Amino acid sequence: AQVVQAEFVKSSVRTEDCPSDGLPEFALVGRSNVGKSSLLNSLVRRKRLALTSKKPGKTQCINHFCINDSWYLVDLPGYGYASAPQELRTDWGKFTKDYFINRSTLVSVFLLIDASIPAKKIDLEYASWLGQNQVPMTLIFTKCDKRKKKKNGGKRPEENMKDFQELICGFFQTVPPWIMTSSVTNQGRDEILLHMAQLRNY
Ligand code: GTP
Ligand code: MG
Repeated sequence: AQVVQAEFVKSSVRTEDCPSDGLPEFALVGRSNVGKSSLLNSLVRRKRLALTSKKPGKTQCINHFCINDSWYLVDLPGYGYASAPQELRTDWGKFTKDYFINRSTLVSVFLLIDASIPAKKIDLEYASWLGQNQVPMTLIFTKCDKRKKKKNGGKRPEENMKDFQELICGFFQTVPPWIMTSSVTNQGRDEILLHMAQLRNY
């Protein structure tokens, strides 16, 4: 399940412009700054294949990265970035939602949740939207290397993860698969790649 080769293919703003070779793909989605681009780099063992930033709003298009010439990892813009102009925000929402519903080669969405802070309303809304629209989903808890801090609610990543799962229970018939990760320690990397390999072989 390891990544031997990874290359950037293209940036698209519309679902119709995405690659049309029919290869299966997995999309990394989540709040701005949750660590989507960092996770992609961790999965492919490269420091800067996907561009990351301390400032939210770095990724602004649907970015396709081809892995081992046989499947795609897709880096998406984050939601919930309050400083983006309203017009831009609705656009992002529109084009990512269109992508989730109409991209037929999308095997599963990987919804990233920051486990170093308590559950956010916008993440619960997003999870619920994906559930209601029957978009297959895996929950990826990020930043699990971070220690608990009083100003962040005073809970450990495992506790924040459990709270989040309890809160979303109502939206799903079965609880989505979930993985604890860190792009700093590479925790969860092999587990994610194995899970993606299993999903591709269905
Ligand atoms: P947008 O493209 O703006 O939507 O953000 P993103 O979700 O792609 O986040 P990005 O990967 O750019 O990371 C945002 C910040 O979080 C950067 O400063 C990263 O170094 C940091 N970060 C990402 N993953 C981790 C992690 O697992 N642990 C820690 N401690 N920091 C992380
Ligand atoms: Mg990004």
